[in-house]
Amino acid sequence: MRACFGRRYMISASHRLHTDELTAQENQAIYGKCNNPHGHGHNYFVEVVVAGTVDPETGMVINMVELDNVVRSRVIERFDHANLNLDPLFVNRVPTTENLCRAVFALLKDVLPAGELERVRVEETENNFFECESE
Ligand code: NI
Repeated sequence: MRACFGRRYMISASHRLHTDELTAQENQAIYGKCNNPHGHGHNYFVEVVVAGTVDPETGMVINMVELDNVVRSRVIERFDHANLNLDPLFVNRVPTTENLCRAVFALLKDVLPAGELERVRVEETENNFFECESE
């Protein structure tokens, strides 16, 4: 039987929604106050869901401590208290919730100690979130 284990983390980070592909007026029209040149911050909740089978010996899909270590080294240390716009992953990509979620998925999908990365969900505020799933 396939099962899923999920874990929730928090990242505090700043960003500015802006692309050099558009004019200042177009950026302002699309991103509104999120285009403010000084940027702004969020406490992002990042949920990581791992699918697999429950190991009969351990009773677990994935060892939570091992998952925490991978998420900490790959994602939290990279993005927590960072300016997302300065990260190489966002040099040519606007750091929207969508793109942050895709980046987290890409950073984790090949390095999990067990199971498969099923889904990543990023909540930017209490009213908006984005999810991406394995294809
Ligand atoms: Ni924002």
